Amino acid sequence: MSSSYGYEDCKATADWLLAQTDVRPTVGIVCGSGLGGLADMLKDPVAFNYKDIPNFPQSTVHGHAGRLVFGKLKGRPCVCMQGRSHLYEGLPIQRITLPMRIFKLLGVETVMLTNAAGGLNQDFKVGDIMIMKDHLNMPGFAGNNPLVGPNDERFGVRFPCMSDAYDRELQQLAMDVGQELGYGDFLKEGVYCVLGGPSFETIAECRMLHKLGADAVGMSTVHEVLVARHCGMRVFALSLITNKAVADYDSEEKANHEEVLQIGKQRAEQLERLVSTMVTRIEHN
Ligand code: 6GU
Repeated sequence: MSSSYGYEDCKATADWLLAQTDVRPTVGIVCGSGLGGLADMLKDPVAFNYKDIPNFPQSTVHGHAGRLVFGKLKGRPCVCMQGRSHLYEGLPIQRITLPMRIFKLLGVETVMLTNAAGGLNQDFKVGDIMIMKDHLNMPGFAGNNPLVGPNDERFGVRFPCMSDAYDRELQQLAMDVGQELGYGDFLKEGVYCVLGGPSFETIAECRMLHKLGADAVGMSTVHEVLVARHCGMRVFALSLITNKAVADYDSEEKANHEEVLQIGKQRAEQLERLVSTMVTRIEHN
């Protein structure tokens, strides 16, 4: 399964894309649910529907456009995934994360990921933007890790380190840019916990995750981070807190996808400004 989407397949896809655009991206961006507006900021865009790209996994989720867009973001060459596929859509996890290896072979050095997440930290409010400083990989505990299978040394080592997964300089840059833009009141940092989904958490599960050190919970990003770090790209990730995960039996609240998209729309512009300003200040070798 993992070997049927190996180095040669990724290389073929990267070469196919590079033959159709002059853009040579050093930054790769993944837009989460309702956060695809970043891709629309790209100048002179060259866009591909996922279904037209060889080997590319497709997203079936409402709120995800399913396009790969190349272009310049404030003058910097970028490639942007407008929507992603998730574990709960049923594709093998190695397939879901294939775009990260394609990014690498396109020449991407820094990956910036966004997602919509439920807030577990009691200090978080709906609409907060959380800089991810670490993660809890629940599917990984159960053996569902995208790096399972034969290891191809052309991408990275068998046992990659994850204690430095989230680039500290980029976290600091996000804090600095956030302060400058006046986002201090809603810019937070924390630990993101990934679950398989598609069902949202029970109250008992929320309480457990919070006790285990999670500040936010969602269904994406972590698998991509593992694969991106394995092949040596720098990683930065943001969660938009679109709802509070329900951790109280007296609560009348219920998690739902429409709420997730609604809040995304409201805060999306600010999140986009944060990411695009960061992009102008990222140094590459
Ligand atoms: Cl509350 N849970 C999960 N698993 N994913 C989410 C979410 C909650 N809110 C947005 N995405």
